[in-house]
Amino acid sequence: MTRTATMIPGRGETMRVTVSIIKADIGAIGGHTIPSAEVIGIARERVERAKRSLLIDGYTCHTGDDIALIMTHTRGVGNAEVHQLAWETFVACTEKAKTQGLYGAGQDLLKDAFSGNVRGLGPGSAEMEFQERPSEALMLLLGDKCGAGAYNLPLYLAFADPMYSPGLLVSEALHDGFTFQILDMDYSGGDRMITLPAPDRLYDIAALLRDTNRYAIRGIWSRKFPNEQAVAVGTERLRNIAGKYVGKDDPPAIVRVQKIFPATEEFGPVFGLGAFVGGDTRGSHNLPLMPVPINTPASTYFCCPMVSALGFSVHEGILTGPSDLFADPFWHHVRDQVAGKAMEMRRQGFFEPAMLPMSELEYGGIVARLKGLEREFKVQQQTAGAPAGSE
Ligand code: 13P
Ligand code: MG
Ligand code: MG
Repeated sequence: MTRTATMIPGRGETMRVTVSIIKADIGAIGGHTIPSAEVIGIARERVERAKRSLLIDGYTCHTGDDIALIMTHTRGVGNAEVHQLAWETFVACTEKAKTQGLYGAGQDLLKDAFSGNVRGLGPGSAEMEFQERPSEALMLLLGDKCGAGAYNLPLYLAFADPMYSPGLLVSEALHDGFTFQILDMDYSGGDRMITLPAPDRLYDIAALLRDTNRYAIRGIWSRKFPNEQAVAVGTERLRNIAGKYVGKDDPPAIVRVQKIFPATEEFGPVFGLGAFVGGDTRGSHNLPLMPVPINTPASTYFCCPMVSALGFSVHEGILTGPSDLFADPFWHHVRDQVAGKAMEMRRQGFFEPAMLPMSELEYGGIVARLKGLEREFKVQQQTAGAPAGSE
């Protein structure tokens, strides 16, 4: 994408920093719930140790059974050493997970050898390099039991809809809108993407983003300051790598907030909606995306999709935080409402849209069974009496 250099007024010379979130599900206690304390301890220890060399700063946590390594450095996006640190950390975590008999130990490590980048190996990553603003505010999103399109509706509403994002009306910095980069996740020949500006192409953006199983927001940029990236989402699909269902994608995302971007609180109502997304039990159903605090176990209630949000301030790469953005008292009420949506949907069991459409089903069994029924279908004439094949 070509971008002209428009500087944010009054920023002066600040540091260029890279934020990398690399995450993986490498096993959990008693099902797809939470990693063990020992496994998280290994991850935390590795990140802490790297703070003295490779990294400026780091933070380790989990959402459901996915462990996230949050790292700051100056090495740019896709740096081989940073990715190797994450890969080796997850390999060490897997060894421990296996000794503990954790369920799905090493689930997201789909390849044996590291080849310079975790992309295509199983772990998910969201990375962004930017020049720090004097008050650089970040919101990091970590998902579990959901696909990479799970953030489509909340991010669309926050970056393109003034009903939810009043900053688009009241702030000159936001008034020009944002550019959306959208990935076609069904295309297997590489990263097939389209870049569309909002509000000019709003209906085209909406037409794509409504299909969260096929299209996912990969990135969002400011239009007034085209060098300024607002959002980076990790859009790796495990199914595309493994060729079959091995676990859900559980996307990480980096969102820069405040000033030339929507304010942190403008993301509250859009996540409070609890939009229905694909995922949950066996990766084969639709349930609402539940906003949860950091380090929440996956829900025994049908593995309802979940997202946590970590607020950080960054200065010269040093992270201050996190502020647990879905933990204040208001979210109890939101969670009650989202739980209500989930329970209502579960009442209709396997019937669509509670179960995903056949084209999206992550488990092969039902698809194979329907193929088997094909030969029993017969084209019949409209005649009176019992149909052929009835006893
Ligand atoms: P995870 O991808 O989070 O392991 O979930 C897998 C699953 O199928 C839960 O039912
Ligand atoms: Mg799992
Ligand atoms: Mg998971």
